[in-house]
Amino acid sequence: MLFKQQVLLRQKLFVLGSLAIGSLLYLVARVGSLDRLQPLCPIDGRFGPRGQDEIPLRALQFKRGLLHEFRKGNATKEQIRLHNLVQQLPKAIIIGVRKGGTRALLEMLNLHPSVVKASQEIHFFDNDENYAKGIEWYRKKMPFSYPHQITIEKSPAYFITEEVPERIYKMNSSIKLLIIVREPTTRAISDYTQVLEGKERKNKTYYKFEKLAIDPNTCEVNTKYKAVRTSIYTKHLERWLKYFPIEQFHIVDGDRLITEPLPELQLVEKFLNLPPRISQYNLYFNATRGFYCLRFNIVFNKCLAGSKGRIHPEVDTSVITKLRKFFHPFNQKFYQITGRTFNWP
Ligand code: A3P
Repeated sequence: MLFKQQVLLRQKLFVLGSLAIGSLLYLVARVGSLDRLQPLCPIDGRFGPRGQDEIPLRALQFKRGLLHEFRKGNATKEQIRLHNLVQQLPKAIIIGVRKGGTRALLEMLNLHPSVVKASQEIHFFDNDENYAKGIEWYRKKMPFSYPHQITIEKSPAYFITEEVPERIYKMNSSIKLLIIVREPTTRAISDYTQVLEGKERKNKTYYKFEKLAIDPNTCEVNTKYKAVRTSIYTKHLERWLKYFPIEQFHIVDGDRLITEPLPELQLVEKFLNLPPRISQYNLYFNATRGFYCLRFNIVFNKCLAGSKGRIHPEVDTSVITKLRKFFHPFNQKFYQITGRTFNWP
């Protein structure tokens, strides 16, 4: 009898203990979310509030995994009104470069309490069909945010698309533009790897990188190959400079963002006139992934999808040397224009 009572007591204690731990975890998450709900620090006046005309029941971005009440479809008009939520045009855009680390940069900036990311690539300025839908269409693609926050979107195709600089200029001539670059040959191989994966998935045949990057007739670098052209950063940047002064651009070192993200993010915070809020606590190295992952609080953390950080195919060293030699003068020009020098070969 006594033994039975002891077992019952132990079971009760176990249930109570579990409940206490559960509540504690919930409270920590709530405190984290409430902290995020406060406008922490009104930023630079240029990031002031916008009008709050209509309140569609679109998804509030699922930021930090904690704003449950505003999750897609769950937000009521009342909640949106109560929290003064608005859909704002971006104050900064990550315009490229494809495979430079654009997703990692966007996700990491989103750690900042004053930044709200547009999760999807919107392709408003580079896609004629989308562009024809008008600026209100674009704005309604943006996540809900507090008026003091800034919205950031990324569409890497913007950097290389002819019409985009003029279109963005027409929307906001003082917008801040972020470009994340990697060593050009590595970026080109990463670009190839992504396309290759798509082709393999569809069971399509595809050429080796060497065959695409080098013109078989001349044995020179094939400048018609898109992955090569995209890596000639200076050529694209020069088109942008017809519309925006260089001060409106910030160049992010995509190679350093992989190995040492915090200092790169701090430079971006400065460029965006944001108070420094992203800390080492928010970034932890995940040995299994081989990359830094994001920590929002003790409960919520995440790594980027597996499609980021693919294993590159081995490329003939003579082709790599040729490509590096080819990119060299363009890189020099890029350093000169941007004032940011990299240790690219
Ligand atoms: P690889 O797949 O070649 O390694 P984008 O988002 O512009 O497509 O860039 C993808 C690249 O982001 C990846 O290229 C990867 O190296 C890089 N990257 C930078 N930081 C990362 C991170 N924390 N997690 C995963 N990938 C990261």
